[in-house]
Amino acid sequence: MEILFIGAGNMGGAIIRGMAASGHRIAVYTHNAEKVETLKAAFPGCTIESGEAANMEGRVVVLAVKPQVYKSVKVTGRAKAVISVMAGVTLSAIRESFAAEYVLRSMPNVAAAKGLSATAFTGDEGFKDETKAILDCFGQGIWVGSEKELNVATALAGSGPAYMMLVAEALADGAVRMGLKRPAAAQLVQGLFEGSAALLTDGHPGVIKDSVMSPGGTTAYGYAALENGKVRDGFIKAIEAAVKRAEELG
Ligand SMILES: NC(=O)c1ccc[n+]([C@@H]2O[C@H](COP(=O)([O-])OP(=O)(O)OC[C@H]3O[C@@H](n4cnc5c(N)ncnc54)[C@H](OP(=O)(O)O)[C@@H]3O)[C@@H](O)[C@H]2O)c1
Repeated sequence: MEILFIGAGNMGGAIIRGMAASGHRIAVYTHNAEKVETLKAAFPGCTIESGEAANMEGRVVVLAVKPQVYKSVKVTGRAKAVISVMAGVTLSAIRESFAAEYVLRSMPNVAAAKGLSATAFTGDEGFKDETKAILDCFGQGIWVGSEKELNVATALAGSGPAYMMLVAEALADGAVRMGLKRPAAAQLVQGLFEGSAALLTDGHPGVIKDSVMSPGGTTAYGYAALENGKVRDGFIKAIEAAVKRAEELG
């Protein structure tokens, strides 16, 4: 299948990199003719298109521009499918600006560049299987039944890498404060995330936590300090705030 990307910035670029080995033919449209050579160098193997408008006729289009600019994107033709990665922008709003047989919304994250984006998606069920096959190329596509759920998935998984980086940085800072050298702290945190992700694939987080926490032990003391700092409450409120923002953007 050929996929046309409109927008190849942070997110579009991460997806293109993650799809490099997928076997799909990838084309990138840029509205800025001066960027053609830069994009050719950044995305070897992709066809770079520019011009007055992106030609969507009969094509599968990944729309990866900012929500604030999508209305000014110039396109011609009727796409086979438009798969948006824009936060908040609704299916009906996308349909108003982009003629397409099928319209879907998805919410990847920047781990797409590593082939590890857990990507929620929703929209026209007629193109559900094809869209999942595309999303699986750079991670895992996860169907959700409504746009309301997609906004929650946006807050969780689209924004999620930023929250995880806050945790990673804070843990390393704590270790450095207590005397560990920075390179060792950074390496241990990286291993901690990899190990925790692997454990999470076959267990409930609460069960894993209980298995680490022995009576009166170091973990129990550290965990109590996190609860005192209202870390759990902070994360719950972070998701709530991000969902509200996704709804506002729509
Ligand atoms: N960043 C993330 O972690 C993340 C995660 C999930 C979803 N998203 C979603 O991904 C979308 C893109 O975000 P981003 O962070 O990748 O933004 P970005 O880095 O600013 O990239 C936006 C891209 O859109 C292009 N563009 C701008 N105006 C255009 C126009 N009129 N016609 C055609 N192309 C145009 C830009 O090209 P020029 O630079 O040449 O103008 C650039 O390639 C957003 O809707 C966001 O909600 C982002």
